[in-house]
Amino acid sequence: MANLQINIAGVSFKNPVIAASGTYGFGREYDEAYDISQLGGISCKGTTLEKRDGNPPPRIAETPAGMLNSVGLQNPGVDYFLQRDLPFLQKKDLTVIANIAGSCERDYCEMAERLNDSAVQMIEMNISCPNVKSGGVAFGTSCKSVENITAAVRRHCKKPLIVKLSPNVTDIGEIAVAAESAGADAVSLINTITGMRIDIHTRRPVLRNNTGGLSGPAVFPVAVRMVNQVYNRVKIPVIGMGGISTWEDAVEMLLAGASALQVGAAMFRDPYAPLKIIDGLQAFMEQNGISSVSELTGGVQLW
Ligand code: FUM
Repeated sequence: MANLQINIAGVSFKNPVIAASGTYGFGREYDEAYDISQLGGISCKGTTLEKRDGNPPPRIAETPAGMLNSVGLQNPGVDYFLQRDLPFLQKKDLTVIANIAGSCERDYCEMAERLNDSAVQMIEMNISCPNVKSGGVAFGTSCKSVENITAAVRRHCKKPLIVKLSPNVTDIGEIAVAAESAGADAVSLINTITGMRIDIHTRRPVLRNNTGGLSGPAVFPVAVRMVNQVYNRVKIPVIGMGGISTWEDAVEMLLAGASALQVGAAMFRDPYAPLKIIDGLQAFMEQNGISSVSELTGGVQLW
């Protein structure tokens, strides 16, 4: 039987498939369709100190082979998360990652402190949301700001720390190096690529926020390239995401250098996508005599 178990910064996942933040809420709705314990983990919706209603609609639009979102970090706030969502997730057998966001450095540090004594197993620091006016991607696009905020949160955070990177940069390799040098235990990438569509009849952008983040199969080749670029620059594990829709995509992302995978937009088309990916990955490993999934990580042979 192929071993799908992985370990990221001392935290064990029974398989490498994690629900991506912002596409799975806190797991409840999907758990009505199937037992979410079948997943390796969940990265919860980006959570802030206070509840947020997010951006005004329309904030979702379909695009060829993808979607644009400008949700604006709608979430119930950390207190609700700790009191209502986390106890639900604790009853499930999957690794729980809290995705934290804020408007300023202090917010991120306080979020980390609020979660230090909770049952959350890892923290994913979201410095790559393109849809908020303050914070988000503003922290993620220069090496200096990535280094500063990572170092600050590191001082306050007792949990293993993942830094979630933005693709909206010139050299994601140097951004990943900055996160690693400031104390990140892992990096995850890619968050969405900033995009825009315009209604030709109204001449208005289709999203009320004007721009949004592009995800889905359209971004997959960009994600594979960036994961490989980062894998070749850092020693910490890389969690790959961006348009993974099938088990073949999952294998490709692992070969590019990912140690674990996050599946996001694919679940809007098919809520069962992560389960199909886990099954397909296992069958592929068994057919090819691969005993442990980590053997695939970084296995690409560049020309
Ligand atoms: O707008 C949003 O809530 C998206 C967040 C993200 O991309 O990190």
